[in-house]
Amino acid sequence: MKNILIFGAGSIGNHMTYASIKLGHKVYITDKNFAALERMKKKIYPKRYGKWNKNINQISNSNLNKLNIFFDLIIIGTPPKTHIELLNKCKKMFKYDKILIEKPLCSYLENYNKLENEKNLFCGYNHSVSQSFQKFLYLIEKEKKQKKIFISIKWQESFKGILGAHFWLKDEYDTYLGDISKGGGAIHEHSHGLHLAIYILKKLKIKNFDFNSNIFFKDMENKPTYDVASVLRFSNSKINLVLETDLLEDNPQKKIIFFNSKTKIIWHNSFTKNLDCIDYQNKKFKKKYNFKKNRSSEFEKEIYHILNIKNQNQYNNSPLNIKYSIEVMKKISRTLKNAKHF
Ligand SMILES: NC(=O)c1ccc[n+]([C@@H]2O[C@H](COP(=O)([O-])OP(=O)(O)OC[C@H]3O[C@@H](n4cnc5c(N)ncnc54)[C@H](O)[C@@H]3O)[C@@H](O)[C@H]2O)c1
Repeated sequence: MKNILIFGAGSIGNHMTYASIKLGHKVYITDKNFAALERMKKKIYPKRYGKWNKNINQISNSNLNKLNIFFDLIIIGTPPKTHIELLNKCKKMFKYDKILIEKPLCSYLENYNKLENEKNLFCGYNHSVSQSFQKFLYLIEKEKKQKKIFISIKWQESFKGILGAHFWLKDEYDTYLGDISKGGGAIHEHSHGLHLAIYILKKLKIKNFDFNSNIFFKDMENKPTYDVASVLRFSNSKINLVLETDLLEDNPQKKIIFFNSKTKIIWHNSFTKNLDCIDYQNKKFKKKYNFKKNRSSEFEKEIYHILNIKNQNQYNNSPLNIKYSIEVMKKISRTLKNAKHF
């Protein structure tokens, strides 16, 4: 049994608590807002998972400094703008082995470059460690010698779905999600797609490429600004990778299409509620691979992956390694600079 400390009793904090308990670990959870701990205990947790679990240790902010425990893992599950500040606080306050920061690593306004040499620091791009995505990666790596490759990534979901998981919020402006300076908007919130793009390019050993981007904002009077859609393109003479992200699609689309002249491979994340799948097709045959999952198993897989990393080599090879999330932030910043947003 490992000790896990979670910051933030909101949507992800509840998921991570449930997943950690299911894996048999001891959970401590804290929130700067005491009412959020109450909301977790009385509303979110019972609504999502049936009933409260008495083994969960809720710790008020004022009692945090009394925790004299070695943590195998600390999870920072708070809004993006608070991540780096909390990381620094954890370094000073606790003895621990590993830290997982939720995605995105931070908001584009933070100094993320200073995290480049961190060890045992992970970022929560959970889809990259799923069984289905790992299989997809294995299949496309076999195709990497082809002369021309086209990849299309779509990561599209409107606030209808996102606010469904935050039933206590009135609208996107009730939280950081409606403010790009706090790490909200499509490019931050849907950065899973960008992370997968960067990781795929790395795995296909594609280093030199042009990067182009277009981004569209929602500007309302007396409201913060956020981006609703973007198109990012990575290209060179071998590859054309196009990533489309938006907060407009009421029927979520989270998928990757890989194509070369011989083979087409499609990865569907959540093809149906509890199923990822891969469609494989080449000149000779067609095959469909199905991967059962549920929301909790996605996070169980992620926590299991991190707790099982035992050495530097395994850390270097992990898609959750902090270096990939820094690359994500660099592309977000560049997109916003290209759009003269900052
Ligand atoms: N990987 C995924 O699939 C996934 C899913 C949901 C959320 N997330 C990420 O998790 C993070 C949090 O999102 P959420 O939806 O849970 O937000 P949320 O608003 O539901 O909850 C955040 C909680 O953090 C608390 N908090 C804020 N600052 C704090 C601090 N300094 N110390 C302690 N607690 C603090 C707030 O009071 C709030 O209760 C975001 O970065 C989001 O992108 C990831």
